[in-house]
Amino acid sequence: MKVTVVGAGNVGATCADVLAYKEIANEIVLVDIREGFAEGKALDIWQKAPIDLYDSRTIGSTNDYVKTAGSDVVVITSGLPRKPGMTRDDLIGTNAGIVKSVTENVVKHSPNAIIIVVSNPLDVMTYQAHITSKLPRTKVIGMAGILDTARYRAFLAEALNVSPKDIQAMLLGGHGDTMVPLPRYTTVGGIPVTELIDKDKLNAIIERTKVGGGELVKLMGTSAWYAPGSAAAQMVEAIVKDQKRVLPVCIQLDGEYGIKDCYLGVPVVLGKNGVERVIELDLNSDEKALLETSRQHVKEVMAVLDNLSK
Ligand code: NAI
Ligand code: 2OP
Repeated sequence: MKVTVVGAGNVGATCADVLAYKEIANEIVLVDIREGFAEGKALDIWQKAPIDLYDSRTIGSTNDYVKTAGSDVVVITSGLPRKPGMTRDDLIGTNAGIVKSVTENVVKHSPNAIIIVVSNPLDVMTYQAHITSKLPRTKVIGMAGILDTARYRAFLAEALNVSPKDIQAMLLGGHGDTMVPLPRYTTVGGIPVTELIDKDKLNAIIERTKVGGGELVKLMGTSAWYAPGSAAAQMVEAIVKDQKRVLPVCIQLDGEYGIKDCYLGVPVVLGKNGVERVIELDLNSDEKALLETSRQHVKEVMAVLDNLSK
């Protein structure tokens, strides 16, 4: 399996590293616009192979997409990360152009690839890549929900003093402060979370999750990369190993949840064809209202992109 990761910065290089050491793909191409940067990161990952004992090959490329030809999956992480005080939406002006030109190069050389978008603002960059690629919606998807649920699960594991391995959770909506964590669909070793934690503590964790990305930006001066890189690699693994994983993924909705033409995170079955099925949960009225707020927010940012493209 051949996987390309565009953007050899914090998230892209982390994703390539995980793909290599977990031997998720045997051929990994890392691309960046900065001269020599991707080549250097790829060489470093390859030189770790004799220590960590893997044989996946990682090569780098300075904007030469010929080296990416025939990729099965492409992860797009190119673009600016946010700095303290910025929202993800503030990145749209720069990142829309980057994601558009990268997607054009990707589909030219790998017309059958499944594209996973990571660049922010995530839901709208997935829209940008989808309309540019002209691929079916099931093949151009965004990574956010795995990261957001991982943050939620990590906070819960800490609060309950249990292993994060035993926490299962689902989340809906856009990758932003309007995301919709779902306590009704959160379990700890199969036990509903609401039986193990009081309401106020759970609400505090939900609120912390919603601004989890911002918490890290404040601490580090730039956005996170270890969990985002691993989350993107988990999506690649589900696809290349045809695992049929049930994961929250951003996709253009086509009537599911009563929503059309909006890009939002929803539970899907992820396998060799990309999104093989969108799972529709039976939401209660509060959950529906939160999802509607998230939809409206993403739609507003989609309209900004439409205006930029005029
Ligand atoms: P970074 O600045 O470390 O890396 C971005 C890389 O993209 C740089 O190396 C830059 O040279 C490269 N780049 C810029 N234009 C390019 C082009 N046209 N072609 C190829 N490469 C190009 O940033 P980082 O931290 O890796 O974040 C990348 C993006 O991912 C940001 O937009 C960030 O907001 C987003 N992000 C999204 C997450 C999510 O959950 N969806 C989580 C974390 C980050
Ligand atoms: C995050 O949530 C910035 O979207 C990125 O960490």
